[in-house]
Parts: sequence; C-alpha cells; structure tokens
Amino acid sequence: MAEFLLPKNSKIKKGRHHKAPDGAGKTRRFKVYRYDPDSGDNPRTDTFEVDTEKCGPMVLDALIQMKGDTDATLTFRRSCREGICGSCAMNIDGTNTLACTKPIDEVKGEVRIYPLPHLPVIKDLVPDMTTFYAQYTSIEPWMKTDSPPPSNRERLQSPEDRAKLDGLYECIMCACCSTSCPSYWWNGERYLGPAILLQAYRWLIDSRDEATGERLDDLEDPFRLYRCHTIMNCTRTCPKNLNPAQAIGEIKKMMVARR
Ligand code: SF4
Ligand code: SF4
Ligand code: FES
Repeated sequence: MAEFLLPKNSKIKKGRHHKAPDGAGKTRRFKVYRYDPDSGDNPRTDTFEVDTEKCGPMVLDALIQMKGDTDATLTFRRSCREGICGSCAMNIDGTNTLACTKPIDEVKGEVRIYPLPHLPVIKDLVPDMTTFYAQYTSIEPWMKTDSPPPSNRERLQSPEDRAKLDGLYECIMCACCSTSCPSYWWNGERYLGPAILLQAYRWLIDSRDEATGERLDDLEDPFRLYRCHTIMNCTRTCPKNLNPAQAIGEIKKMMVARR
C-alpha cells in the first residue's frame, strides 16, 4: 500500500473533501497526499472529486484540474506532459510512474496519489531530489577522453556500437526505479540505486569514452554498486520500459571480467 511506502514517521490525517461541482458528468475520486512544512501540521490526504469529462485522460490532467479549479495551493512538478522530462514522477495507485502518461481509466476506484516514496517531501507531491542529483553528478555523466579529437569531424561510432546505447539513452531520470528499490530505501545515501547505475553503464559501454577503467574503479565499492540484490522492482516500475536491473548485472560482469 502506498501508505507503507511513505517516509518514516509520517502520521497522515484525513484532510479536506472537495466535492464535485453541481452538474458534473463523470466524477472520479482522487485521494491526494498534502504536506506543507510551513504550516507545522502533519501530512494529510485530501479528497478531490473531479469531473473527468472536463479534463484530459491522464492523472496529470486531473491534478491540473484540481489545482486550477479547486485548490491553487496543490503543488506538483510537471513540464512536458508527454513522458519526456521525468518531472511528474509520483506514486499512483501504489506504483511509481509518470502522472502525464498514466491514464485515469487504468485505475479502478479511488485514485491514490502520493509523492515518490522514501525521499524527503518539500511540499505535497514534490520530493527533494538533492541526493539523487548529487549521485548522478558523482558518476560524471559525460564523455571523457584522453586522445585528441579528429581535426575535421566528430568522434565516430559504428552502428553496432551505437546500438549498445539503446535501452539506456532513453532514461529520463525520473527516479521511479530508484525510489521503488528496497536497497535504495535503506541505503540511499551510499548505494547509487538503479537509475544512476543505468546511467553509469550508459557511459561504460559507450565506445567513444576512454575512462572505462576509472569509471569501474569508482563503482568498485561495497555500497555504491553491490547493494543491488536483484529484487527487480526497478525494472517492473520503469515507465519507459527500460531494464536497470540488467544494466547493473552488466556492470557486475565487467567488474568480474577485469579481475
Ligand atoms: S534489481 Fe537491484 S536496483 Fe533493482 S530494485 Fe532490485 S535491488 Fe534495487
Ligand atoms: S531507468 Fe526508467 S524509472 Fe529509472 S530513472 Fe530511467 S526512466 Fe526513470
Ligand atoms: S510532465 Fe514530463 S514526464 Fe510527465
């Protein structure tokens, strides 16, 4: 249950109930996590009745409707509205996913919406991603080379080598996978987690990168890589259908191969 996934010591009380406007067509009920650190109050869950005939088909459309028509203080991140920016990641109906690509009709009954689990909450559905981004920075996610670039063109890559990046470059850093990973919940300060490790692998197998050894040295650590116990939550939850667990397995194979 989503309640189980909330940050420790979260005491959630029942919040306000916003009824659907008179004459609403197809009404759906949404239960939304609310937390305002400035108020000093415990978190609560508000219930919103939304006329889904007046909004688009996705959960993000309903959230925008709630904010626009009912409670302007409701806070969440979003940008692209098409599964590209990763900013609307949240826990919907017990699963981490993107609000902008999650159809309301896929959820039966009340639609429960919580922030991504096990991250500190800044406000309502907005988690604090500071550690996550610091971990991303730590893997140095850019091409590193010692050799001089060709004078008259970019560094080339064969189609076969380019194909090795498929299933990796599509990652939008939404953190759905990392925040569904039990190892990351309990060791999130030291274990890099599936999203960052998938990104690390993306650079490890890039044929143009010349820092493979250095990158593997950096991951050779009891916590940064080896807290993955192949539980597979990450791969099950990825809204882009990527396979971070497999990427982690490939890094472990590279570690063994160089011994
Ligand atoms: S496979 Fe590894 S990274 Fe993925 S959820 Fe399990 S422990 Fe976490
Ligand atoms: S691997 Fe998937 S779930 Fe994880 S950050 Fe990338 S896109 Fe999001
Ligand atoms: S708003 Fe960009 S991924 Fe949902």
